[in-house]
Amino acid sequence: MEKLIGLNKIKTAVFISGTGSNLESLIKFSLLKNSPIKINLIISNNIKAKGLKFAKFYKIKKKTYNLKNKYISEKLILKDLNVNEIDLICLAGFMKILSKNFIMKFKGKILNIHPSLLPKYKGLNTHERVINNKEKYSGCTVHYVNSKLDAGKIILQKKVKVSKRETPKSLKIKILKQEHKLYPRALKKILINL
Ligand code: GRF
Repeated sequence: MEKLIGLNKIKTAVFISGTGSNLESLIKFSLLKNSPIKINLIISNNIKAKGLKFAKFYKIKKKTYNLKNKYISEKLILKDLNVNEIDLICLAGFMKILSKNFIMKFKGKILNIHPSLLPKYKGLNTHERVINNKEKYSGCTVHYVNSKLDAGKIILQKKVKVSKRETPKSLKIKILKQEHKLYPRALKKILINL
């Protein structure tokens, strides 16, 4: 029975561009016995992404594409996803916007994590904007990806308090800690109906 569960894990690709701290938390989660996912592929648009070190450390296949020609790169990525029988994509700090065509091919199977309480503060520089607007709360959101930026259906959110002396850096650290817990929780929510 246990073997069967192991075999049935959902084959997942994680897309990154930078540090990869969410990638590492997803890998650790995937290695838990009862995790519903297995990470089979890491894709980055940035050959220098620090997070690529986790591919080596955890022995996971990795591919990099610069995405300068989005059409060609996406075609190659789709091929990689097919070859590796990927059924779920987790964007984790992936800084490129995927085309409508790509998203359609994986409709309902692409997730993203965003460091704000969506629908507030879509896009970049969220922490700076939150602090400039003197918000009392911020947080993070895991959502499905559709063709509009940071606008797909929300799966889970976690709220954090913005303290009086908060800086964009301290808020980023505070929220990242929550992101690392929220992404696995969101996956459990949609994949094992918890
Ligand atoms: C996270 O804050 C995530 O919400 C955003 O980009 C950041 C990536 O951080 N989309 P990391 O690369 O996972 O450390």
